[in-house]
Amino acid sequence: TPGLPPQAQVNITHDNSRVSAVLPSGECIEVLLHGATVTSWKDRAGNERLWLSEAAKLDGSKAVRGGIPLVFPVFGTAPDHEPTSKLPQHGFARNSRWDFLGKSTTESSGQTDASVKLDFGLSTATIDDEAKKLWPFSFSLIYSVTLTPDALRTGIVITNDGDQPFEFQTLLHTYFRIGDITKVKVSGLEEAAYIDKVDGAKEKQQAGDVTIAGEVDRVYHPASPETPVVVSESGEMKFSIVRDNLGDVVVWNPWVEKAQGMGDFEPKDGYRNMICVEAGAVKAWTKLEAGDAYEGGQIISV
Ligand code: BG6
Repeated sequence: TPGLPPQAQVNITHDNSRVSAVLPSGECIEVLLHGATVTSWKDRAGNERLWLSEAAKLDGSKAVRGGIPLVFPVFGTAPDHEPTSKLPQHGFARNSRWDFLGKSTTESSGQTDASVKLDFGLSTATIDDEAKKLWPFSFSLIYSVTLTPDALRTGIVITNDGDQPFEFQTLLHTYFRIGDITKVKVSGLEEAAYIDKVDGAKEKQQAGDVTIAGEVDRVYHPASPETPVVVSESGEMKFSIVRDNLGDVVVWNPWVEKAQGMGDFEPKDGYRNMICVEAGAVKAWTKLEAGDAYEGGQIISV
């Protein structure tokens, strides 16, 4: 921006594989074009806020283990839902190369409130033939990642460009970095109904805060979508997640054995330093009529 000293400007770098942005106040993000996966979100002191496996594949050969992979059009696998039954776990979006569509910034002379929005696109025209064969619908996705000094927003717009309806699920699979899983509490899910994926998909109801002392894999459907879901550690708020049009919240920690079993999960005791709290629309199917668009997102405040 003409007239502003360089340190007051948002600095964006972009190469073949990733886009990075640094705010004048020092916070920064990195987004891999593979999956439009946010792989890094640092505070102004350089402390990482997202967990990324040391063995994560960042070369496009596999979905990224860590950061914020984007799940679309199926959560997990859905053998009983014919249109998505052939798709790999969590769909093709996290395994596709997205286009960087551009950025918009709001600058500030005071260096304290500049922000940046990065937009990424994926559509029928840009996914590979294999994905097209497995899910033959006409669609386009725009994924926007907005960084401000104290928040990260990730939002998706899904458009049905075809002439028949389709059904989808979507989820923002955020891996939060934490210091010690045994000191973490997740609040905002009190009384919520959930499906316990580690106990035969039984329907249960949450009592009090969620704490983790073993493998946890749950799909919550909180009654009030406006209530923020808050991750705190040793009584201190670390992340507050506000959802927009994403009615479900998955809480996942693989714990010892599942972490052992994942080749791309390193270090093996890294489960102590991460918790996935994933905002999504996954419990049911969202139907999108021809020509219609769906919009959903999350704002993570610190
Ligand atoms: C979570 C699911 O969202 O993602 C878990 O609820 C799954 O069941 C986890 O294990 C990781 O999935 P993936 O495909 O990235 O190993």
